[in-house]
Amino acid sequence: MGRPSPRPDASLTLEAELVYAVKADRQPFVYMYEPPAGTPRLVGDYETRRVAIHDARAIKGGPLLDVHGFALHPHQTALIDAYDEAEVRSVYYPEIERLVLQATGAREVLVFDHNVRSGPKAQAGQRGVYEPVRRVHNDYTYASAELRLRQLLGAAEAERRLLERYAIINVWRPLFGPVRDTPLAVCDARTIEAEDLIPIDLLYPDRIGQNFTFTYHARHRWYYVPDMLADETLLLKGFDSADDWRSRFTAHTAFDAENAPVNGRPRESIEVRTLVFFPAVPPDGARR
Ligand code: OGA
Ligand code: FE
Repeated sequence: MGRPSPRPDASLTLEAELVYAVKADRQPFVYMYEPPAGTPRLVGDYETRRVAIHDARAIKGGPLLDVHGFALHPHQTALIDAYDEAEVRSVYYPEIERLVLQATGAREVLVFDHNVRSGPKAQAGQRGVYEPVRRVHNDYTYASAELRLRQLLGAAEAERRLLERYAIINVWRPLFGPVRDTPLAVCDARTIEAEDLIPIDLLYPDRIGQNFTFTYHARHRWYYVPDMLADETLLLKGFDSADDWRSRFTAHTAFDAENAPVNGRPRESIEVRTLVFFPAVPPDGARR
C-alpha cells in the first residue's frame, strides 16, 4: 500500500480518547520501578477526553519543530535489531545524531538515551522493553531539562553549555509499518498554554525526573502520521531553552485508533533522546 498523498483529506482525521491530567491537591508522582510496600505506583488524577486527531502529512509545507513542536523526516536506517542494545548504540545512535544535525542546523548533537516499546514484549517481562504511553505528556519540564543536562555533562561543562541555546529532541520511529495499531498523537505546540501544565515526578532508583502532564483544553490541536512507515521518523521537541517565538516543548501520547485492524500486529517503536546544541549566533539563512 502506498503512502497517502499530502492532501487535506478529512477522512484521515480520527477521533480517539486521550488520557489527560486533572488538577488535584497532591503533587503527582509515578514510580518507574517497584515502589516500597504500601506506596502506590502512581499518584495523579486523570480523565479521558474525546478529541479529533488530524493528518500531520496534510500540514502545508510539513510540520516544523520550532513551530508545531514536531517534524516528520524520512530516514533509512541500517539498524537490524532494535532490541539489541549494543547494535542500537553502535549503529543507530550515530545515524540519529547525523539526522538531528541535518534537521535542526545544530552545532552538535548528543544521543543520551533510548527506549524500545512493544506491548506484548513488555507484558511478557522482556527487560528494557516498555509499553506505549497512553497519557498526554512531555518528557521534560523547565526544571528537569536543565537537571538532565547537568547530570549528563557534569557541573562545569553544563555551566558552559547553559550559556548557549540547547534543546532536547526525541526521535520516534516505528519498527515496522504501516502503523495502524496504537499510533502516536502529537499536539501543535502553539495550542498549549501555561495553564495546561501539571508537573509529575518520575521516581527512579537513582534519580528523580519530571514530566509535564496536561489538562484538557478544546484549543489543543492534535495530529498523527497516518500509516507511518519504518523509514520515517517523528522528531519531537521535548525542551528548548530559547524563550522566543519558538516552540519550547509539545505534548504527545499513544492512543487506541478505532480504525486499527482487530487482530493487527501491535505497534513496536524505538525513541531516541538527543541533546542538541546550537551556534551562539545563528548564521544567516541557517534556519530550516
Ligand atoms: C516518547 C513517548 C510513547 C509511545 O517517544 O517520548 O512518550 O507510546 N512515546 O511510543
Ligand atoms: Fe514521551
